[in-house]
Amino acid sequence: MSTVVNINGRIFHKNNAFVSVFDRGFLFGDSVFEVVRTYGKDKIFAFDMHLERLYKSAAFISLKLAGRKYIEKLIRDTIRKGNNRESYVRLVITRGIGREIGMNPDYAIKPNYFVIVKNFDPPPADINKRCIKAAIASVRRNFKDSLNPLIKSGNYLNNVLAHIDAMKKGGVEAVMINPQGYVAEGTTFNVFMVKKGVYYTPPLEAGILDGITRKVILKLMKENGIRYAEKSIKPAELMSADEVFFTSTLREIQPVVSINNRKIGNGKAGLFTARLYEIFARNISRFLS
Ligand code: PDD
Repeated sequence: MSTVVNINGRIFHKNNAFVSVFDRGFLFGDSVFEVVRTYGKDKIFAFDMHLERLYKSAAFISLKLAGRKYIEKLIRDTIRKGNNRESYVRLVITRGIGREIGMNPDYAIKPNYFVIVKNFDPPPADINKRCIKAAIASVRRNFKDSLNPLIKSGNYLNNVLAHIDAMKKGGVEAVMINPQGYVAEGTTFNVFMVKKGVYYTPPLEAGILDGITRKVILKLMKENGIRYAEKSIKPAELMSADEVFFTSTLREIQPVVSINNRKIGNGKAGLFTARLYEIFARNISRFLS
C-alpha cells in the first residue's frame, strides 16, 4: 500500500513529490483536475466519461492538453506503481510555470501533469452505515458567469469556504445554494432528493458540476423505468423531502439523515435511496475499464 505521485511521467514517493512555487496552479488555481477511483486493483470507474469531462474543463480555460493516450498512460502507470488494493486517483493538470508572475496565460511555458495515487478505503457496503448529516451553507455557489461550476478547476476556494461555514453550523457536509436561491450541489458531490416516490436532482443549469456519478445514476434510472426529474429545488423543499442523498465518485450514493439539524424522513437511510444503491452496485462492472 503506498501513495505515489507521477509528475510529467516520473513517479515519486509522496515525500519526494514537489511543485514549483511559480506553477500557475499554485499561484492562481490555474488548473483542471479529475478524481477517479478503481474497483479492485486497476479497474477505473467511468474512465471515458471522466476524460471527456477533463477535456471540456480544459477547453473552458483555454488549456490545450496532450492526447488521451499520454494521459491514460500516466494514470495507469501510477496506479500500477501504487499497487493498492483499491486506489484514489487525482489527476491535476496546471498551466505550468510562468515566465513571469501575471495573469497572461501566454507566460506559461508548458502544462504540468500530476497524478496522485493513494490507497482508497471504499465506503461501507451497507448503505445504513454511510449516513451523514449536512448543513446548508450561507456561502453561495459561484455565479456561472464568474467561475462556471461546470469547470472542474483547481480553484476550490468557494467550496472550502462553504465547508468551513457548514462545520460552524454543526453540519458535517455543506450543501450550496446558487445565486438565484435554488439548491446547487455540495462541496464535492451532487444532491438528490426523493418526494412521493419520485427522484429529483437540480439541472445542470443550476450551476453545478456535471457529476459522473449523477450522470450514471440518471442513465440507470432511465433504463430501469424509475420516475425522476431534473428540476430546480428550493432549500425548504430539500429540507422537507422524504429522502435526500449525495452522489460522487468516492461516495457513490450516500444517505443524508439531517439538514441544519432537522431530520430528513425517519432519520435513517431511506428505502428509495437503498433501492437505487442496489441498482447502482449491480451495474458498477459495466462501467469499469
Ligand atoms: N468531487 N460536485 C463537485 C463540486 C465535485 O467536486 C464533485 C466531485 C462532484 C461529483 O462528481 P463525480 O460524480 O464526477 O465524482 C460534484 C470529487 C470526487 C472530489 O473532489 O474529490
